[in-house]
Amino acid sequence: MSIPAFKPDSFTYTDSPNPSWSYGQPVASSPVGKEWLKGEDEGWKLVNAETENPGSLYALMVSGIVPRPVAFVSSISEDGVENLSPFSWFNMVTHSPPVVSISFASKSPSSLKDTAQNIISNPSAGFTVNIISEPFVEGANATAVDAPAEVSEWGVSGLTKEASLKVKAARVKESAFSMECELLQSIPITHPETGISTTTLILGLVKYIHVRNDVLTPKGTVDPAKLKAVSRLGDISYARVGDAFRLGRPAWKDEGERILAEVGGRNGERN
Ligand SMILES: Cc1cc2nc3c(=O)[nH]c(=O)nc-3n(C[C@H](O)[C@H](O)[C@H](O)COP(=O)(O)O)c2cc1C
Repeated sequence: MSIPAFKPDSFTYTDSPNPSWSYGQPVASSPVGKEWLKGEDEGWKLVNAETENPGSLYALMVSGIVPRPVAFVSSISEDGVENLSPFSWFNMVTHSPPVVSISFASKSPSSLKDTAQNIISNPSAGFTVNIISEPFVEGANATAVDAPAEVSEWGVSGLTKEASLKVKAARVKESAFSMECELLQSIPITHPETGISTTTLILGLVKYIHVRNDVLTPKGTVDPAKLKAVSRLGDISYARVGDAFRLGRPAWKDEGERILAEVGGRNGERN
């Protein structure tokens, strides 16, 4: 199978999939919706998460819970060894206080991944979370290599350490959006039946955010077309932020009357 070459600039805003949609309108009323619902003809697979083998559950969950943002994390061990690795079980938790979450699968029940170990055992060094943009995704991906301790992931990546302001861990200079973080909480995730801790959830308190001016909109927010952030899909797939569309969040004060007229009463019956 031949794969087309990468198209560097391919971000566009389009209409939403069904721009004439109105409140309460069923999915089947649009051509794309009808086509989507035809998929039901093939029935459903039901997976019992309690009995499914963990490998299959992993593959199913990481391919179904998509797209995931990727935290490119820089940390330092107690002995001063610097580490850089990507993690996609990552998200924003809240902005007040500014908190991010990253979840680390253990290498074995008694052995954490280096990044998690560093963050927990060397909290005074802090850590940085850097967003990966398309132009350096290959280098960032390569840091997931299970290299021996003496091989620097920074060297493998070809990326540049830039001193942070508050934390000791460097940030990635090539990243246009980096957060300096301190450990807020570390939560072991324990299997309810075996009692074994399989995973560690880290909550990081964001102290500083570095944003490259050229990716900012005049309003001071990040322009997704300029950031070119990558996301993680299942298996070894990544996705780009390609076509975007905008949908307003309805406010009852503006839309309430129309919603009542179009959808009707409490049980959603149509007028
Ligand atoms: C894009 C990507 C996302 C990843 N996400 C996670 C993750 O969320 N949690 C995890 O434990 N490992 C994840 N991994 C695997 C780690 O990056 C990998 O185990 C790495 O070697 C860990 O490095 P460390 O032991 O130096 O911390 C991911 C790998 C890639 C390439």
